[in-house]
Amino acid sequence: MKNTVSTLLKQKQSGDKITMLTAYDYTIAKIMDECGVNSILVGDSLGMVMLGYENTLPVTMEDMIHHTAAVSRGAENAFVVADMPFMSYQVSVEQAVINAGRLIKEGGANAVKLEGGAEVCEQIKAIVDASIPVVAHLGLTPQSVNVFGGFKVQGKNIDRAKKLVEDAIKVQEAGACAVVLEGIPAKLADIITKKLFIPTIGIGASNGCDGQVLVYQDMLGMTIGHTAKFVKKFAEAGEVMREGITAYINETKSGAFPAPEHTYAIDDEVIAELEKEYE
Ligand code: KIV
Repeated sequence: MKNTVSTLLKQKQSGDKITMLTAYDYTIAKIMDECGVNSILVGDSLGMVMLGYENTLPVTMEDMIHHTAAVSRGAENAFVVADMPFMSYQVSVEQAVINAGRLIKEGGANAVKLEGGAEVCEQIKAIVDASIPVVAHLGLTPQSVNVFGGFKVQGKNIDRAKKLVEDAIKVQEAGACAVVLEGIPAKLADIITKKLFIPTIGIGASNGCDGQVLVYQDMLGMTIGHTAKFVKKFAEAGEVMREGITAYINETKSGAFPAPEHTYAIDDEVIAELEKEYE
């Protein structure tokens, strides 16, 4: 059964935790869908984990549409949320609605996600008025990395914490169907979760959130180098991949691969004739 905005809302009401993971291509989306994840986020984190950029800022609408369309083809049941990339919604409300529409029409997403609180509420309202569900994103919003001066935990002092609670209420009032809380203290995430009737999805927040999201390369142990404190490795897929690739290189070089069972047969008479002609 396809997960929808109402499924997620009902999960909050019943206390059934929402599972969300990022994906950026058909194969991974299909595997996640088969495992029963509630929602797949085509995050603009693809700029870093798929395209090798230093942060998410260079990601374009074309990048997002390309990857979202691939994920949508693999996600039969998961609710697909596509990130609106940096500068695709900040400039004007009209541009925000047009770009959100493209992620739905061309990317096949079920909802869009954008970063920010009070300052993007007009955009959220207009996109929702155009019948497109919006997931908000508060806290350590990666598109503001230059303002934060790095990827730093947000909402630690009283003013910042209050602003986050108020922003959460405002995005809910603007019509957001859920809110991602990233990189904020656990107890603050709990307060926001209790205050809202829409679900909160935590990443580096708290297990009191209504759901969790992680970047799949992080949680499967495929990330090269540093990962944030909040990342838990649920598998060592990176190691398994390295072993498989090394074995392929070794067996190809030694001639052990391909073995007879990996090759196609041909009738002996055909070969005999070929040999007569060419040998
Ligand atoms: O882009 C992304 O992957 C995200 C998650 C980390 C929430 O926004």
